[in-house]
Amino acid sequence: MRVWIYFFICFNTLAWSASRPQNPAIGNIPGRTTVSLNGPWHVIVDPYETGLHARFYENATVETPGGGPIEYNFEASETLNVPGDWNTQKEKLFFYEGPAWYERRFSYKRREHTRVFVYFGAANYFARVYVNGKPLGEHEGGFTPFNFEVTSTLTDGDNFLVVEVNNARRVDGVPALNTDWWNYGGITRDVLLVEVAETFVCDYSIQLAKGSQSDVTGWVQLDGGSLAQPVTIEIPQAGVRKTFSPDPSGRVEFRFPAKLDLWSPENPKLYDVTISSGAESLHDSIGFRTIEVKGTQIVLNGKPVFLRGISMHEEAPMRGGRAYTTEDAQTLFGWVKELGCNFVRLTHYPHNENEIRLADRLGLLVWSEIPVYWDIAWKNPATLANAESQLSEMIARDHNRAAVIFWSLSNETPVDGDRTVFLQKLAEEARRQDPTRAVTSALNHVTEAGPDKRVLDDPLGESLDVLGLNEYLGWYGGRPEDADRRQWDSKYAKPLIVSEFGAEAPHGKHGDASARWTEEYQVNVYNHQLAMIRKIPGFAGVSPWVLMDFHSPRRFLPGVQDYYNRKGLVSNTGQHKQAFYVLQKLYQQMQTPAAKQ
Ligand code: GCU
Repeated sequence: MRVWIYFFICFNTLAWSASRPQNPAIGNIPGRTTVSLNGPWHVIVDPYETGLHARFYENATVETPGGGPIEYNFEASETLNVPGDWNTQKEKLFFYEGPAWYERRFSYKRREHTRVFVYFGAANYFARVYVNGKPLGEHEGGFTPFNFEVTSTLTDGDNFLVVEVNNARRVDGVPALNTDWWNYGGITRDVLLVEVAETFVCDYSIQLAKGSQSDVTGWVQLDGGSLAQPVTIEIPQAGVRKTFSPDPSGRVEFRFPAKLDLWSPENPKLYDVTISSGAESLHDSIGFRTIEVKGTQIVLNGKPVFLRGISMHEEAPMRGGRAYTTEDAQTLFGWVKELGCNFVRLTHYPHNENEIRLADRLGLLVWSEIPVYWDIAWKNPATLANAESQLSEMIARDHNRAAVIFWSLSNETPVDGDRTVFLQKLAEEARRQDPTRAVTSALNHVTEAGPDKRVLDDPLGESLDVLGLNEYLGWYGGRPEDADRRQWDSKYAKPLIVSEFGAEAPHGKHGDASARWTEEYQVNVYNHQLAMIRKIPGFAGVSPWVLMDFHSPRRFLPGVQDYYNRKGLVSNTGQHKQAFYVLQKLYQQMQTPAAKQ
């Protein structure tokens, strides 16, 4: 259990396991009354975590008689913006990994018949949260939301929040010690006070029934004292208004026919949906679509779809650092759409909700992934519980988003028994929590079957609905043109997505097509790769590595990498590289009527 809470909140008993996150519907959902706590917070950087013993969370300003000196003062300390990573806000913190304490004062007027939660969109990596000196709880995992109820802890007038955030990497962490992305620390997404009625909707699911294009199914879970109050679902544009009586646990399950315009990349239709119960009323924009796997095909709304994609990190274009704003998402997805994509692989961790909701609006199919990346502590039960919790939180936040079609469990993990058992458990958990979407992983273990043949036979493939293949022929091994002879096969009759291929080139570095690190070499790799991968059996999509150059602590080449992975098709300042247009041309061709035949 990765969220330690100090009193009982909404548990969705039926569909979800004990690792189910608390009150997923407490968040940035339209119709929720929220008070933003974004903005400058005072911060104390505390490399030795002295603040725990010194009880920084008490925010003391007056010495206790006979006690020792107070050696911290938040009010006099520097500030950092929330949301925002600390690495790109202060040069001296660029490489900092460790604990830091955030403090924010705010005034609040309590309201009758109202419950209040403090909500965090994300904090990387481990957070301890206190209000008015009282501990609320802890959260592990840098990319998913969490919240705590503060109804009884807030006072009328002045209040203060203290949050310890520690991004130190841990051998038993998820991810563990080694990643090819920058370990941005801090409170990286919104912080809100969320007000709800005494009995409120703590979670809900509304989508088309599996395999049906005309039946809406789902559930609503209430939390509070009046669990018997009726629940009404409205979809005005579809002429739907249905009222249901909850069972004793405050849960409503429903299925009803509705005439709906299906969501797709060509027609990203979203419906306004209102859920009301007692004094509670929330609104959401939901698209209705079906997604299935049939043999080696991915089938959207009953029709096979080919995934024209790109992989991307959640890094802010131009300014760098963790992306979080809608503008960041619009810039990044603007390039994704400019490429001609209908699919985006969001790597290697759940990206911010602004991106996911924009994908819903723009009609981009989404691969969402938890950071089980490279090697982690497969034998450690706490690591499994942590991974399960991050998976549950990812599913809980985005399970109503039509855009999200894949839950990815991992990226490039070594083939060994403990690992495969670990990931099989996650696959089961993902299917139990959401039987409507496909489960996948990015694999890179292949077996040589002759000089030019490779077979994807990773045993994990058995437990996946869709296979991701990462291969770097022409970059980490071989020459670009070797792809012309390379044959691929898969042990599984399942859809295969080439989830990564690529080559590095800083924008503006030119030379011969055989000269590594040049744009011409990157083009050379793309040309040979795109021809090769189309011959792979079960080929159902591609998401080359990567949309934009991004910071990495493993990339050192001076004047070339300078702590950037340069495999982007766009530089970190938005300049398009030649290979961008190679991929764009192919994706445009694929959309021509001739290609669709
Ligand atoms: C890996 C990995 C990425 C990494 C990329 C690279 O396949 O999945 O996270 O950045 O290769 O080496 O550039």
